[in-house]
Amino acid sequence: MPNIVDILKKIDKFFTPPVYVMSKKGDDAKADARLVTYYDKYSYVTEQYKVLRTNLYSLSPQSPIKTIVITSTQAQEGKSVTSCNLAYALSLDSDKKVLLVDADFRKPAVHKVFKIPRKPGFIEVFKGEADIENFIKKPVLDNLYIITSGTIISNPSEFLSSLKMKNYIERLKEKFDYIIFDTPPVINVTDSSILGAMCDCLLMVVRMGVTPKNMVEEAVTMLKHAQAKPKACILTGASIPFYYYYMGRYKYYYHYRYGYQGTTRRSY
Ligand SMILES: Nc1ncnc2c1ncn2[C@@H]1O[C@H](COP(=O)(O)OP(=O)(O)OP(=O)(O)O)[C@@H](O)[C@H]1O
Ligand SMILES: [Mg+2]
Repeated sequence: MPNIVDILKKIDKFFTPPVYVMSKKGDDAKADARLVTYYDKYSYVTEQYKVLRTNLYSLSPQSPIKTIVITSTQAQEGKSVTSCNLAYALSLDSDKKVLLVDADFRKPAVHKVFKIPRKPGFIEVFKGEADIENFIKKPVLDNLYIITSGTIISNPSEFLSSLKMKNYIERLKEKFDYIIFDTPPVINVTDSSILGAMCDCLLMVVRMGVTPKNMVEEAVTMLKHAQAKPKACILTGASIPFYYYYMGRYKYYYHYRYGYQGTTRRSY
């Protein structure tokens, strides 16, 4: 019987465990405490997102990955927090222009993390009520550009699968080095599969001790059928046992990457 690490190894070229903690310094007018990469720029957690950033380069050295869809099997696994922190970590590289798009039109969260209005957003752009240029004129936080979701709608699939969406992505690709899409879960709705087929890469958030392994397999099969490209997994909710922390992060990575049967894996 394969365990979750074996399954992930098949999907993956790598997986990184960004351990998440709320920033204690957090909550000024620009972002809430979930944006650890902004508040605690030199912390262990930010370092994990930077490792993820480096791993993105190595996922496809021949043709650089520009458009990235972040999804997971079900609700509340860490998609939005991962999208926001990965986007901010990517934008710390001043040579790169980074755009974060809230493509979870059912349960948007990016505007809350960055404390900006949800409307107007992408839905207004689709409807012709807002100009996309207004969102990409100036960054929202430091070097990071954001397009919020806009009005909450129950069936965004028709917007997402339209030629118009494809054209927007192509246009945005000319202006940005990275575009990160925060999306809803795979199992219940098709949004992330549709977007995944239009983008270069899809990253699956897997929450340790919560995401059932059969759901990961099911989601990956669905995504592949839809021509989306699930290239790697991001583990959230990993706890660092005290002694691992003191043994140093390299040892910690080693355990994860090579399927060490340690404390953090026992929940499976
Ligand atoms: N890396 C992480 N480790 C531990 N907890 C996390 C991590 N990332 C997010 N969380 C926590 O998990 C919960 C859900 O986070 P988030 O809103 O990012 O999930 P989501 O998958 O986007 O949810 P939804 O499906 O509702 O959009 C929040 O309480 C958040 O603080
Ligand atoms: Mg979310």
